[in-house]
Amino acid sequence: MTDTDRAQLLTAIRSGIAAAPNADAAMKQAVRLLKDAIPYYTWVGIYRIDGEELVLGPFLGQPSPHTRIPLGRGICGAAAIDKATIVVDDVQADPRYLACSLDTRSEIVVPIMNGPEVLGEIDIDSDQKAAFGPPDRALLEQVAGLLAEALSDASQ
Ligand code: SME
Repeated sequence: MTDTDRAQLLTAIRSGIAAAPNADAAMKQAVRLLKDAIPYYTWVGIYRIDGEELVLGPFLGQPSPHTRIPLGRGICGAAAIDKATIVVDDVQADPRYLACSLDTRSEIVVPIMNGPEVLGEIDIDSDQKAAFGPPDRALLEQVAGLLAEALSDASQ
């Protein structure tokens, strides 16, 4: 995927989120557009914070057993505590990893932040090792920024 492709995808996601009638629809749009555009994004989902847990919202890919993850558990829980993106090039080498599919090789988790508050996370798994490079991270952090607006508007 070229930089131009990524810029076009971001524009499509921005439009999809802007046109969405509510936060759930906005999250579904983002998940659909990311999953359809990038073949090595094997599983794409969004978790939202609910008290001390992350709760799985819209996703595409194989159903995950991890529909509720306590903060601090798994790579998802670690990213929520760190309030920072985590990229894992080899999930089998990371003791924090909670398995969703046996085929998963790498993962990226990007927090959706409203100022200092974590609203949720974008979680993406790939069947390819070290699938997520700096361009993926940059794209997904921009998408997280767009989702932060949609999710914080919804909570007002
Ligand atoms: N791998 C995640 C759990 C979520 S599933 O991948 C969908 C983790 O370690 O937190």
